[in-house]
Amino acid sequence: MADIGHEVVGIDIDQEKVDSLSAGNAPFFEPGLSTLLRRNVSSGRLSFSTDSSAIRGAQVHFIGVGTPQSSNGAADLTYVDKAVEQMLPHLGACESGAEIVAGKSTVPVGTASRLSQRIAATGATLVWNPEFLREGFAVKDTLEPDRLVYGLPDDPRDAQEAQDVLDAVYAPVMSSGTPRLCMDYATAELVKTAANAFLATKISFINAMARICDTVKADVTDLADAIGMDERIGHRFLRAGIGFGGGCLPKDIRAFQARADQLGEGETLAFLAEVDRINDWMRASVIDTAAELLGDDLPTSRIAILGATFKPDSDDMRNSPALEIATDLARRAGSVVVTDPQAAPILAVNDDLPYEVTTEAQDALADADLAILGTEWHEYTQLDPHRAARLMRHARVIDGRNALDPQAWKAAGFTYIGIGRR
Ligand code: UDX
Repeated sequence: MADIGHEVVGIDIDQEKVDSLSAGNAPFFEPGLSTLLRRNVSSGRLSFSTDSSAIRGAQVHFIGVGTPQSSNGAADLTYVDKAVEQMLPHLGACESGAEIVAGKSTVPVGTASRLSQRIAATGATLVWNPEFLREGFAVKDTLEPDRLVYGLPDDPRDAQEAQDVLDAVYAPVMSSGTPRLCMDYATAELVKTAANAFLATKISFINAMARICDTVKADVTDLADAIGMDERIGHRFLRAGIGFGGGCLPKDIRAFQARADQLGEGETLAFLAEVDRINDWMRASVIDTAAELLGDDLPTSRIAILGATFKPDSDDMRNSPALEIATDLARRAGSVVVTDPQAAPILAVNDDLPYEVTTEAQDALADADLAILGTEWHEYTQLDPHRAARLMRHARVIDGRNALDPQAWKAAGFTYIGIGRR
């Protein structure tokens, strides 16, 4: 927002985060973000504070707090509610036109309508404006989104005013032709939830096909290539492997099911439990394959896990399939070593880990009896299999992301096992 010309203040309750951001350091790894952060902090357009009164007088207030999973699977709305609570006393002080609160957090359908009245009582208007960015592509997805979605209030005048304000805010983004879709609150909330449910379903669908391919000795990568050529299906999100993780897809499909249950529509979304089950299954089946491959030698074997994050170009390890596999195998194998270019230093702070940690792939591969690709970081997909074979005690690899070239690895002497790849 600062980079496209606005004056921005970011509020957080965590003083450490605010200090780090004020110094131009993002508290997590995201390609390109630090450059933007520094440029705008030093120009004075962007500042951070723990004092919520700093929002007073601003025209647009974005809510971007997390909605983590609570123990029953539902989304925990504590942070959203607290953010609104802290905002309320400071709303109604904007002197330059209509004042807008724009919710970006992923919330159960019905939340915006619940919050809207208290916000309206201050004279401000609530818009639900879901966020679709992917980790690793956060900057690009924010500056060049596929679409902007505005969930607007029912009152046509309020809706038009809110739309005009947000259009002005997003004008530099929309000038490149980004479509902007206006709808009611509930639909806007559902767009986000439905998009993530669809993406998760697509991944579990191809993973189910991978299992069928394994059984009949077919190849899921050829299958995905061929079905993806049907434009109605498309190529993306059809990469079979150890499945989806991260802070969004797993929790969002569970929160969606929990909300559907409350609405008496549990049966309607029952298939999402199946999507989740297939996803868990992929992790378990790689663990089983590793155990089978190493057989009686498992308790003395050394296993290298390439990648700890839930996807490349991120340091996020929330619900990471790679890490779950590492943790489970560490209980059964002689030793497990995890390598990751971004996450290793974060993991290494914990001296209570069941596995070893290193940033260097070559150190992880040294004397290993099996390597498992858990995250398709560029440095791992570009590994020279001949060199890897020389480093390892036994040349065996499980390609948990179907991201290696089976021919090249086999030619280097590897026992290669992909997911649904003959
Ligand atoms: C996701 C949505 O894509 C994004 O629109 C939303 O705003 C937040 O949630 P993100 O969590 O960053 O984004 O990751 P994404 O790129 O969607 O990948 C999710 C998981 O699916 C990763 O663990 C990835 O490895 C896995 N995945 C993805 C597959 O296993 N196969 C695929 O074909 C694609």
